[in-house]
Amino acid sequence: MSSDSNEQTGCAGCSRREFLSSSVLGAVGAMLVASCGDGVFGGSSLTGPTTTVNTTVLLSDYPALATVGGVARINAVATPIVVVRTAASTYLALSLICPHAGTTVNLTGNQFVCPNHRATFNSTGTWTGGQRTSNLQSLTVALNATASTLTITGTTSVGGGGDDDG
Ligand code: FES
Repeated sequence: MSSDSNEQTGCAGCSRREFLSSSVLGAVGAMLVASCGDGVFGGSSLTGPTTTVNTTVLLSDYPALATVGGVARINAVATPIVVVRTAASTYLALSLICPHAGTTVNLTGNQFVCPNHRATFNSTGTWTGGQRTSNLQSLTVALNATASTLTITGTTSVGGGGDDDG
């Protein structure tokens, strides 16, 4: 019997070498999925698409921003963004795209929590626990007090923000 025989591979029409190659690839794929558990391969090797944000919103459309500490989800852009009022005339804009693997994080109490691998961030976007990753991305916010508007500009990207080692 030759080494390339397909007699004992169980793969009609393919050689032993082809069968073994596909088996090894299948096993590696299964190991990768099993190691993550949810099929998400997050971490430092991910670099997803970037989105440029450039939008101006009326403060009156976001009543939550009337008080210091208020947080509002900005719905004027498709990219998930929040604005936090940090002082009387200062605001912080954060991307809600988790820097670990791109899941949209949720506002829970006064912190942000990623529902995917449980990374947590404080109200200014600093990573505080759970899955190790970097801070939420911030964008530039310019207040026009006369017009009572905020102009939010910057770039958001998906992934590439952290370790998978926990
Ligand atoms: S996507 Fe993994 S912690 Fe958010």
